[in-house]
Amino acid sequence: MSAIKIHKPEDIGRMRIAGQLAADVLAFAGKHVAEGITTGELDVLCNEFIIAHGAVSATLGYNGFPGAICTSVNNVVCHGIPGSYRLKSGDIVNIDITVNVDGWHGDTSKTFMVGQCTKLAKILVDVAEQAMYTGIDAVKPYGYFGDIGVAIQKFVDRHGFSIVRSYCGHGIGREFHGEPMVLHYDSHEPGLQILPGMFFTVEPMINAGFYKTKVMKDGWTVVTADKSLSAQFEHTVAVTENSVEIMTGSSQWMQV
Ligand code: MF3
Ligand code: CO
Ligand code: CO
Repeated sequence: MSAIKIHKPEDIGRMRIAGQLAADVLAFAGKHVAEGITTGELDVLCNEFIIAHGAVSATLGYNGFPGAICTSVNNVVCHGIPGSYRLKSGDIVNIDITVNVDGWHGDTSKTFMVGQCTKLAKILVDVAEQAMYTGIDAVKPYGYFGDIGVAIQKFVDRHGFSIVRSYCGHGIGREFHGEPMVLHYDSHEPGLQILPGMFFTVEPMINAGFYKTKVMKDGWTVVTADKSLSAQFEHTVAVTENSVEIMTGSSQWMQV
């Protein structure tokens, strides 16, 4: 028996609203990403934006996490804590936004390039984005979760990069992190069946070097063990009888 939550059709509307705000916050953050801004300044701007839209950050205070967003620069894989670090030309920075709107969660992230980046960084970011879409394309109603990792692995292997194994996608809805664990690599197991009413994230972390990671002394910041660059993209998706809908796609958002 699976403990994965099957949502009612009308719950998709609530998820669309949460997903849309998460996407809007990410687009807003992207407009501010530039040489010279600190990750802490991005955090303050995003938190204000979230609150101004009647929502709250789901990461702020989550198991003690101190940021309203996660900012993961260069060799940081995920869960980077916003602070005094000042972005400089050549950096890549993943910004991960999770909002709670009336009890429903939207979770999305993107890796931005700052100024002039190396060819390797550009390719890595591009491969990470395509890896996410490859994974989402593998999601089918009545398919299997294992299909996602198989598809991503096949794609990433062709480019000679590696897929982080210690962190995965997750069920989402009223809960921030629910079942199942959505693996982004080929685990050689079909996994559970994907059913209409399931909401979850696809968020592969791709390393230029080896897949292994370690957690820094702050207890949060996850870095590549070999100090290689890492990039990530994330969307929240909803499965219906005959479709897979991205909840966190870009919106008509234009100005503050
Ligand atoms: N948003 C991240 C995810 O995609 C989780 C961040 S948890 C935090 O699942 F505590 F680090 F913020
Ligand atoms: Co997530
Ligand atoms: Co996230």
